[in-house]
Amino acid sequence: MVATTSTGRDGWSSRSAFILAAIGSAVGLGNLVRFPAEAGANGGGAFVLFYILCIVLIGLPVLLSETLIGRHGQAAAPESYRKVAEESGASKSWELVATLGVLSAFLVLSFYCVLGGWVLYYMYLFVADLIATGVSGPAFDGMSFEAVDALFPAMIANGPVTVVLNLIFLAITLFFVARGVSGGIEKVAVYLMPLFFVLLVGITIYSLIGGASQETFDYLFTFEPEKLTGEVMLAAVGQAFFSLSLGVAGMVTYGAYVSREVNLAGTSAIIGAADTSVALVAGLCIFPIVIAAGLTPNGGLGLMFQTLPHAFQEIPFGSLIGLAFFIMVGFAALTSSVALMEVPSAWVIDQFRLPRPAAVLLVTALAAVFGTLSALSTGMLSGFHPLGFLPMFEGLGFLDTLDTLTSKLTMPIGALFTAVFIGWIADKRLVDSENGLSGGLHYLWRFLVRWFCPLALLLILLGGIFPDRAAQLFAALGGGEVQSAEVAE
Ligand code: PFF
Repeated sequence: MVATTSTGRDGWSSRSAFILAAIGSAVGLGNLVRFPAEAGANGGGAFVLFYILCIVLIGLPVLLSETLIGRHGQAAAPESYRKVAEESGASKSWELVATLGVLSAFLVLSFYCVLGGWVLYYMYLFVADLIATGVSGPAFDGMSFEAVDALFPAMIANGPVTVVLNLIFLAITLFFVARGVSGGIEKVAVYLMPLFFVLLVGITIYSLIGGASQETFDYLFTFEPEKLTGEVMLAAVGQAFFSLSLGVAGMVTYGAYVSREVNLAGTSAIIGAADTSVALVAGLCIFPIVIAAGLTPNGGLGLMFQTLPHAFQEIPFGSLIGLAFFIMVGFAALTSSVALMEVPSAWVIDQFRLPRPAAVLLVTALAAVFGTLSALSTGMLSGFHPLGFLPMFEGLGFLDTLDTLTSKLTMPIGALFTAVFIGWIADKRLVDSENGLSGGLHYLWRFLVRWFCPLALLLILLGGIFPDRAAQLFAALGGGEVQSAEVAE
């Protein structure tokens, strides 16, 4: 049966289906791969605590703003922004914020499925290992440290493998998105998210009992203010948006399938809390195993694809835990890639009046082209640095360029304009009738979207883009503590 919203469109069949789908969108490689990697690369506790602040003070207010625009518009993201703007007597050009979001979602989709492909490869490695060495032994028994280390560079340098795996992951995503909101997108979340949580909790308990739990707590939660540089702050805010699927019209798109009765403030709080908890639990799941195996929890993708497999080499049931781990990551990635594909697909359906399967196929075909460039950027095309002439993108290949461009620029910019739109431009009565807030919380939210989010985002964006200038300014203002990494040296 196809559930419909008040406008007769296909929509979520229930409030809990929406919550699960939105959590499915939010929880993904961002929480399991990117969060621990960024925390490791940006000094642990300083990053983590600033990240939590970003989620509460910026992420949640923007999340509510996005779902509100979507629910009011009941259409693809740009049209939803346009409706709210028109009803508020404002310029239709506000839809450009969402158009930028749709483009960003498409770009994220294109490289996200490449990473999804890598996860598929590791599932295959662990299945093969399980068959070869049995259930109870450690992973990759008999293989040297160097040989396990070499698996990752060998995989990402292998163009045909990464390209084909990317296409497979895209095809799986396409399969569900083409079936519609209640018939496909919702189904993935409703079945896979509960399984994901069971796996996450199970592996984390195993990891905390057998691993270095105290060191992990110290590493993740010791706040060292001197590590909080401009770049770390931008990395944290970018991670917060990436993780909550914000600034790319993702939550606007999902919000458009929500019925009028749902309280958006309550659901936003649940989504934000679930997403943040999963990121923190992912840290508690990964670091204890890594630290206990005597390895350093450095940041970067090597953490998931090299350091963890080494750790699985050291523990009993290593192949089994390793396989369960990568299945869990794959589930989370799929519920997010489905959301990412829905954003441009909904736009193509609305814009060109195409039937859903044709629109989804078109988006997939284009994503396959961009994805191929990303897949090859870690091998054959590693010397191609498309925006290398800009300091922020120096030395970055195609995949890393898209990641940096979206998480550090277009997502925070999209969120900044969304906050301004809801805080200053949209009709107050329209906003109040949708947001589901009352009393003090209403005033707090209004203050955050009107003042705090735009100003904080502007400062963080400028500080991240011009780290040296920001550091000099802080020094000139007499605050010696917050410095750019370069200037601090
Ligand atoms: N939030 C997802 C993650 O953390 O992996 C990534 C994502 C999904 C971003 C959907 C944007 C989006 F619309």
